[in-house]
Amino acid sequence: MVEISTSILSLEKGREAEIFLALEKSKTDYFHIDVMDGKFVEKDTYQKMLENVGYIRRISNLPIDVHLMVENVKKSIEEFSIFNPNIITFHLETCKNKEEVMETIQLIKEQGSRVGIAIKPNTDIEEIYEYLPFVHMCLIMTVEPGKGGQTLITDMLEKIDTLNKYIKKSNLEIDIEVDGGINLKTASRVKEAGANILVAGTAILAATDYRVIIEELKM
Ligand code: DX5
Ligand code: ZN
Repeated sequence: MVEISTSILSLEKGREAEIFLALEKSKTDYFHIDVMDGKFVEKDTYQKMLENVGYIRRISNLPIDVHLMVENVKKSIEEFSIFNPNIITFHLETCKNKEEVMETIQLIKEQGSRVGIAIKPNTDIEEIYEYLPFVHMCLIMTVEPGKGGQTLITDMLEKIDTLNKYIKKSNLEIDIEVDGGINLKTASRVKEAGANILVAGTAILAATDYRVIIEELKM
């Protein structure tokens, strides 16, 4: 079953509560929180996302899917854990060695969240294989992290397919989340490749009826 995680990165200022409630009514499966520190990626959304996730928690019980695009992963895990996110995803590229990856996975688990490990478009899929037995989800970036509204990098389709085949061959139970440039044109291609959680920001927030676009992305 495909799930939709709506990215609130490109949210219109001042309409937050109205949009969060409309998204909940439109049956998004998760709110996708793009946390950026201005170091790992250029943009800095840190404070805004802390406020938004606090807001969401006050008006909705929907699962929260935190995507950390930050250098100081430990501090961010601690600061966002107070909102009991369902998933916390960190980037493999922020860890210096295997010990650090395993410590980060352990820290997220201790906070009671499911663990996602993300890789940028230029990172080989083989680099995360050794961590798959310890995580719940792998996030394949289908754009360069850092901003919304970009076009899906089609080379990532093969990466998703390779990961999906590896997971099946290894008898692992892991979600494959894809993030960036997901819309009605690209959704079927990433699903065919094996993705089962689709992050979409622009495609959903620009739609007149969130329910319709979310249903169509799921089909
Ligand atoms: C980019 C973020 C994505 C982005 C998705 O760094 O991780 O979640 O907001 O936005 P769209 O769906 O507009 O590509
Ligand atoms: Zn994201």
